Amino acid sequence: MLHLAVATDPAWAGRAVAHLDEILLDHAHLEKKAAGTAVTLLFRHPDVAALQRPLAALAREELAHFEGVLRHLARRGVAFARQKPGRYAGRLHAAVRGDHALLDTLLVAAVIEARSCERLGLLAAAIAPIDPELAAYYDSLLASEARHHGAYVELAEACHPAAVVRERLAAIAAHEASIVSSARFEPRLHGGTA
Ligand SMILES: [Fe+2]
Ligand SMILES: [Fe+2]
Repeated sequence: MLHLAVATDPAWAGRAVAHLDEILLDHAHLEKKAAGTAVTLLFRHPDVAALQRPLAALAREELAHFEGVLRHLARRGVAFARQKPGRYAGRLHAAVRGDHALLDTLLVAAVIEARSCERLGLLAAAIAPIDPELAAYYDSLLASEARHHGAYVELAEACHPAAVVRERLAAIAAHEASIVSSARFEPRLHGGTA
């Protein structure tokens, strides 16, 4: 189960498909960032045993996804290039409290994974008639992104009581919902829907 406080309007996928190459480039950066998030947590928390192997495995999977998206960019003739940072992650990370940084960072990561999973599912369906190979690849990512969402929630529960995690996850999901609902559409996987 994905803990999202608002579902993306299905019309989003149609608009995103009109900018498919930009979405794909953004997606490549996101996979690399997802690996970076896991590795950063490993560097920050070498003392939290429960994090080590799950985050190492997660980082490897995200780098494999990054390589996969790079292959689809190349197949579509799109050059991988530097990208201006989006506003979504920065606004979402503003919810991280200094005195509960690990819990909040794990749950922000969980919500990002959930949104990726939801949007990749919408995209997979929308692009099937246009680029079936990419649609099949997106379909193949859904199970891992859903698993990553669950893994981050479980890691939070390994460090904090379940009731604390549940309450904070609901608050962060509500914050994320307000970000995607209020931001204007842009050709980004986590772009706004307004
Ligand atoms: Fe991924
Ligand atoms: Fe992921």
